[in-house]
Amino acid sequence: MKPKVLISANADNFPENVIDRFRPLAEVVRVSGDNPDQLKDAVVLMALWERVNEGFLKRAPQLKLVSRFGVGYDAIDVEACTKRGIYVCHTPDVLSDAVADLTWALILGWMRRVPEADRFTREEWGKKQRVFPFGWDIGGKTLGFLGLGRIGGEAAKRGQGFGVKMIYYDAVRRQDLEEQYSITYVSFQELLKTSDIISVHVPLLPTTRGLLSTPQFAAMKSSAIVINTSRGPVIDQKALTEALKSKVIAGAALDVFEVEPIALGEELLRLPNVVLAPHVASATWETRRKMAERCAESITAFLEGKRPPFIVPEQKNVTF
Ligand code: 8YV
Repeated sequence: MKPKVLISANADNFPENVIDRFRPLAEVVRVSGDNPDQLKDAVVLMALWERVNEGFLKRAPQLKLVSRFGVGYDAIDVEACTKRGIYVCHTPDVLSDAVADLTWALILGWMRRVPEADRFTREEWGKKQRVFPFGWDIGGKTLGFLGLGRIGGEAAKRGQGFGVKMIYYDAVRRQDLEEQYSITYVSFQELLKTSDIISVHVPLLPTTRGLLSTPQFAAMKSSAIVINTSRGPVIDQKALTEALKSKVIAGAALDVFEVEPIALGEELLRLPNVVLAPHVASATWETRRKMAERCAESITAFLEGKRPPFIVPEQKNVTF
């Protein structure tokens, strides 16, 4: 009997011809969400957004590999997987360009009022009743990166062309990137105090959950904007909504939210000083294809009895 591989992504994200690479070695089943019937004898799971925790793992006693379609694996309890001898893989690097691009789309979108300009052109310009309000220059602003890993680094590379002054705070200092992209390391407080634009690029960890909340917004310039293409819960969304409503900060541009999809009733959706996207930073045809290929590389290697190549750092020295 061939090992069962569950694919919980649709064909746009995980095309049939990528599955073909390991199809001869497995019984492949496409599933959506947490499907108990399929889970009980699954050996491999290509995970999209499943919360792979103790409860989930109890329902998947045969599982040996979780290959996450994405770089972030905060939805996966790696410790619980390690205890059960399950490898956890992800798709680093291949999406850094796409996420850095969307980071800049959000920065520019907010500063130059692009979504508002689109609506104005369609609905108001021809009425000649008001002129479109000015935006703001990017050049000369201080751009602060909260986190300078793979994605933050790519966003900083792009920043060189915009004439911004770049600073960053990270738990790990990146002297290599400081020189390469003319970016200066500062303390967290300094970053909050001096940035015109703060862009979040840290993973969601117990230490980064709610990293930006009421006291941090109070420390920022009242003209500052916050960009988030990382994980919603890094920002306390209720506190952000309050800070935006009371003009403690000037704005936000967000691709990620505390709960996704964000509920239609959320007040944040009605604020004029936000630019929003539905978690699409990696959603390009080219990048999603590369993510599927990377995910499949780990699955194929495992099915061939080899060590999967894109194991998460926590399992770097672990062999099952
Ligand atoms: C999603 C992401 O994985 O890489 C990540 O961690 O958040 C995204 O790329 C992707 O949207 C799949 O749902």
